[in-house]
Amino acid sequence: MRTDPNLPPAGSRTVDGWFVTGSEFPSDPIERLVHYARLAPSIRNSQPWKFVLGSSSIDVFADRARWLSVADGDRREMHLSLGCAIESLRIAADFGGYGTGLQYFPMQSDETLVARVSVALGGPKRADPAADLLRSMLTRRTSRKVFDTAQPVGDKDKSALYSCFEVGSVSLHFLSERTALDALAALETRADAMLFAKPEYRAELAHWVGRGALGTSWLMSKIGQLAVGYLRGSDRIAREDTERVASAPLVCLLTTHHDQRVDQIQAGEAYMRIALVAESRDLRIQPVSQVLETPETRAGVAEIFGLGERTAQHLFRLGHAEPEAGPSTRLPLDSIMVRMARTG
Ligand SMILES: Cc1cc2nc3c(=O)[nH]c(=O)nc-3n(C[C@H](O)[C@H](O)[C@H](O)COP(=O)(O)O)c2cc1C
Repeated sequence: MRTDPNLPPAGSRTVDGWFVTGSEFPSDPIERLVHYARLAPSIRNSQPWKFVLGSSSIDVFADRARWLSVADGDRREMHLSLGCAIESLRIAADFGGYGTGLQYFPMQSDETLVARVSVALGGPKRADPAADLLRSMLTRRTSRKVFDTAQPVGDKDKSALYSCFEVGSVSLHFLSERTALDALAALETRADAMLFAKPEYRAELAHWVGRGALGTSWLMSKIGQLAVGYLRGSDRIAREDTERVASAPLVCLLTTHHDQRVDQIQAGEAYMRIALVAESRDLRIQPVSQVLETPETRAGVAEIFGLGERTAQHLFRLGHAEPEAGPSTRLPLDSIMVRMARTG
């Protein structure tokens, strides 16, 4: 939300200068970084991460127990989510006056150790610190509202989003032409229908909803609608969904040159920045990932955006809409954090 940066966001307080919501806020400075990292977005709010705290580094692990193996068979979205958490961690470190370094996959023998973030109080800062985005972490939400079709995303907003990250080979593409947006919305509806037709896909979603991890009434109602629509063969629901998706004045796509794990993580880092910059400019954002989860519709996305050899990593809608009511749930800090013996 665009408010005075010197004041804490609505509904929060400050502790030692940090913006905080809720009662839980660690006194340990390194643990505070993890406290913010876990506010990152993740596929179906699965929060597939664990943080191991050393004396001058934080190891970020993929938690395979929280991998959605049907929806995200190749673990691309899990690594995107991990990238979001890594960038959140570093933004919190920027805010706290820490210099950070990032090493991807520091141990060849363990592919679940996706990154080691070195942290040094007062150490050299990274090239593009973003301390000012910390306050937006508390108010950022994934939006499931219908967008205001009469309010386009302005050029200043677009250029702020375009230039807010520089990581690996990640590029941001915009789509705002109506015919192309409608074609994309139709593809999204097709992807939804294809995925929901698979019993194992519905079972996986039901499992996650049952674990309370998703915590969004939006997803619950979508599951209900799609299940009914699928069973009855009704196309009314599909049409309404297409209209809702097509209400976004701007659809964005993050792409990479290659499709290695590091590319996927870096696309997540870029998305985190974009989502926070969007929040700071009062723009709403929603990933729409199903369309990249089936090969047929993924090929359609590449065609609409004219991607050539580049790989589509993350698709999302942007625009103006009513704010979401409240935050979605997060796992308790102690369940995602391991403290190694630390000195100082
Ligand atoms: C890789 C990835 C894929 C996502 N896909 C979708 C999606 O298809 N639809 C959607 O509404 N939200 C999607 N999300 C947003 C998550 O559902 C959301 O981050 C999570 O529920 C936590 O809520 P929050 O972002 O409001 O904190 C995705 C997020 C990530 C990181």
